[in-house]
Amino acid sequence: MNLRFNEEQNMMRKMVRDFAQSEIAPFFEQMEAGVFPRPILKKMGELGLMGIPVPEQYGGSEMDYLSYIIAIHEISKVSPTVGVILSVHTSVGTNPILNFGNEEQKQKYVPKLASGDYLGAFCLTEASAGSDAGSLKSRAVKEGDFYRINGSKMFITNGGEADVYIVFASTHPEAGSKGVSAFIVEKGTPGLLFGKDEHKMGLLGSRTIELTFEDMMVPAANLLGKEGDGFKVALANLDAGRIGIAAQSLGIAEGAYEHAVQYAKNRKQFGKPIAVQQGIGFKLADMATAIEASRLLVYQAAYLRSQGINCKKEASMAKLFASRTAVEVSIEAVQVFGGYGYTKEYPVERYFRDAKVTEIYEGTSEIQRIVISKQL
Ligand code: CAA
Repeated sequence: MNLRFNEEQNMMRKMVRDFAQSEIAPFFEQMEAGVFPRPILKKMGELGLMGIPVPEQYGGSEMDYLSYIIAIHEISKVSPTVGVILSVHTSVGTNPILNFGNEEQKQKYVPKLASGDYLGAFCLTEASAGSDAGSLKSRAVKEGDFYRINGSKMFITNGGEADVYIVFASTHPEAGSKGVSAFIVEKGTPGLLFGKDEHKMGLLGSRTIELTFEDMMVPAANLLGKEGDGFKVALANLDAGRIGIAAQSLGIAEGAYEHAVQYAKNRKQFGKPIAVQQGIGFKLADMATAIEASRLLVYQAAYLRSQGINCKKEASMAKLFASRTAVEVSIEAVQVFGGYGYTKEYPVERYFRDAKVTEIYEGTSEIQRIVISKQL
């Protein structure tokens, strides 16, 4: 395995780093006040960042999966909020259509998603079906050329903002997870109702809402794959999606760590910088080591995925380890800053608040352990 990025990947890294500093960082305050970063997503679309791994024939940038992961990693280092919006839009909003859609569906939706004209969302979770995603209760009944869908969804990232929703509902409830089907649902479809926004601990500029389907009539042409393929559509795209969240976690850990190192070198106590005092120096060493291990796991999984090699286990390992690292490193970064770290004057408390959910969404750490242990 080559541990160096190639020229194209290095260019992506530089471009995204520059973009994050010049365009995303000035939007922090608004995002922290709960403003969804529409203007940033528009610029990302213009730069080809909303369709990085999408083939050119469908309007994408046709770069490898590693370049896409580099983009999420670098963006999340500055803004985990924009990182998760991009990850959900691409990994589980666009890829299900690309991987399971028929030619007509791909032509109709993917170019708009890849250009950023459309934003994507993924609607699997329900109030009583989170980790046990196969037990979902939303119901789809075929009526002529349409499916009538009733039910509700919880914690939908990009909900309300997205133009295209990948919706999972059961066409054959008696078959359990094998009776789940996937549908492409457009914003504006009668019966697609947007519910309350969740007031979250972190990622304040990203929207997370409840959705309700009330006799929502979806054209039969919008069924993704065949009836009963839904759970496979969900899991196949979650496998890769988990590398995206692992990259977001890596970005959070690195962002918090870099602030902590800089602060520790400048902050003097007992006559010298706290960085050269063992209590803090050892802390920074542990943080740096955990980040390095996360980086290797994340990029190993991304490399396997970009080679088309099965990486279910590696993706879950990367998500499990990198999300824990994000939480631990951001807690330690607050500690390095001491009292200042607990204030909103410095960014480390934001990384700390943004980190926790990486151990929860796209499969909790407990679910990652189930996925890993099943592969052993
Ligand atoms: N490609 C194709 N098919 C796949 C697949 C893949 N990568 N992975 C699994 N499948 C197939 C399996 O082969 C199996 O089919 P067969 O029965 O025909 O063999 C079927 O899908 C079911 O697979 P498993 O038996 O492995 O699945 P399971 O029922 O044991 O899964 C689970 C249990 C792993 C716990 C699963 O329910 C799960 O992942 N739960 C967590 C749900 C989750 O991650 N939710 C996240 C919501 S999205 C989100 O959070 C986005 C956001 O906002 C950031």
